[in-house]
This record gives sequence, C-alpha cells and structure tokens, in this order.
Amino acid sequence: MRQTSQISKFTSLRAGFAALSIFALIGVSGLAIANDAAPAAAAEAKPVVPGKPKVDPAAGEALYSNGDASRGVTACLTCHGPKGQSATATWPKLSAQHAAYTTKQLKNFKDGSRANPVMMGMAATLNEQDMQNIAAFLVKQPVSQGVAQNKNTIELGQSIYRGGIAAKGVPACAACHSPNGAGIPAQYPRLGGQWADYTNAQLLAFRDGVRKNSSQMTAIATKLSDQEMKAVSDYIAGLH
Ligand code: HEC
Ligand code: HEC
Repeated sequence: MRQTSQISKFTSLRAGFAALSIFALIGVSGLAIANDAAPAAAAEAKPVVPGKPKVDPAAGEALYSNGDASRGVTACLTCHGPKGQSATATWPKLSAQHAAYTTKQLKNFKDGSRANPVMMGMAATLNEQDMQNIAAFLVKQPVSQGVAQNKNTIELGQSIYRGGIAAKGVPACAACHSPNGAGIPAQYPRLGGQWADYTNAQLLAFRDGVRKNSSQMTAIATKLSDQEMKAVSDYIAGLH
C-alpha cells in the first residue's frame, strides 16, 4: 500500500521532471521505488518510435541501380552513373556525399524549394524511406576525383575557397565545406571533385533564387561575381 502510493506519487512527480532528475530521484528514494520504476524509466530513456524507418543501403542500391517500374521510379544510375560517379557535368557526382545532405536535397526537390524540373520529377516518385536508403548507399561509395581546368583562375579560386573575399564580406568556403572539400557532416556537403559546371550552376541557382533551400548559400552567392563563381568552381573540381 505504502509502496503503491509512493509509486503513484512518483509517477505524478515524474511528469514534471526531465529524465536526468528522474534518475536522481530514484537514487535518493530507495530500492523499493527503483525496482518498480526502473523498467518504465528505462523505456522512457529509449523510446520505440513506431513507423520510424530503418535505413537499408542494400534496398537503396537496388533502387538506385534498377529503379522500380511498378512505382514509376527511374534508375538513378542512368544519369548519375555507377556508384554515383557520373560521366559528365550535366549530372552531378553523388558518391561519398553525406547521407543527411542527400536526403535533404531529395526532400527539397519534392517540396519544390530546390526547383529543377528533372529532379523534381524523380523525387516525386520517392518516399522518405527510399531517400534515406539511397543516401545510405551513396555515402559508402568511393569519393570521385576531378581536375581543375583553368590555370589562369586557380589562384583566384583558391584564395576565395580558403580565405573568402574580405572586402565583400564573403566567408571562406573552407570554413564550412572543410579545407579539402570533404564537407562537415551532417550540415555541410562535400564539394571536392565535383564537376565545375555543376558547382557553377548551383551558385547561380542560389543567387537567382531558383534554389531556395539554403539562406546561408543564397547570402554568399549573391556577393559573388560570375568570374569569381567560375574561378572557385574550377578550383573545387580539383580539390581532394
Ligand atoms: C534524367 C537524369 C536524372 C536521373 C534519372 C536522376 N537524376 Fe538526380 N539529378 C539530375 C540533374 C540534372 C541534377 C542537377 C539538378 C540541379 O541542377 O539542381 C540532379 C541532382 C541530383 C541530386 C543533388 C546533388 C547535390 O549535390 O546536391 C541528388 C541527390 C540526386 N540528383 C539524386 C537522384 C536520385 C536518388 C535519382 C534516382 C531516383 C536521380 N537523381 C535520378 C538528373 C537526374
Ligand atoms: C556558413 C557556412 C557555409 C559557407 C561559408 C559556405 N557554404 Fe556552401 N553550403 C553551405 C550549406 C549549409 C550548404 C547546403 C545547402 C542545402 O542544404 O542545400 C551548402 C551548399 C553548397 C553548394 C551546393 C552543393 C551541391 O552539391 O549542390 C555549393 C556549390 C556551395 N555550397 C559552394 C560554396 C562556396 C563556393 C563557398 C565559398 C564562396 C561556400 N559554399 C561557403 C554552407 C556554407
């Protein structure tokens, strides 16, 4: 009886306390409560969220490589190449990209905050589980290498990437995308080795408001001239 009322007192108290103070409470109020309350407290500490997708890279690989005709999913490989290493700048390289970033882009194509007619159609056929599965497959693929093409702009590109443009308030790209272009999971995407034409097109898309999914990148791209965008994009292509 005494134990029951203590437990119900404990239960009502519990509602008002954060998980940590619950454990502190158990610690001081003795074994009788701790024994009964421990399973409930443990269950709270590790909630089982029904319906939360379990990420499956093998399913992602299958969908990436073969698509799914029954659901109208086109094989991503057709454009983005085996392992996410695309053959031309028309299609970005996706290999080794951070999974959270890839998933976010697919969601953004689907919700229209990143407006690209081709990828909006592709993303519309995917559910969130598909997106996470494909992203989990892609992050495990080898990093794609690239080369800078324009000797005349390497120096400008490098100085923007490493140091920004102080006079215009442009921050160093390296601060977020890391000095070697590998990015910083989960927020800052890998850029190194990407096709220069694709990178350049994205900077233009941020500046022109076609790609509205990052206020940070819009603010930066707005300050860059066409020439600066080209230079830094070419430098990034050779970065690894
Ligand atoms: C018909 C060619 C084509 C197919 C098929 C295709 N894509 Fe794309 N994808 C593109 C193009 C073009 C872009 C660049 C879009 C832009 O400029 O914003 C792109 C961009 C992307 C991006 C953004 C990359 C980044 O670095 O931000 C992701 C992620 C992506 N595609 C995933 C997929 C997945 C997953 C599939 C398969 C379900 C797929 N794509 C199928 C053409 C294609
Ligand atoms: C304050 C942090 C920050 C800085 C500094 C920064 N970026 Fe970004 N960048 C981001 C974030 C965040 C994203 C991802 C946006 C999204 O979710 O779509 C991004 C995305 C990009 C993309 C798109 C990549 C893709 O695969 O489509 C390019 C290109 C890019 N940044 C280039 C640059 C360049 C060039 C510079 C330097 C002039 C720079 N960034 C500086 C935060 C930053």
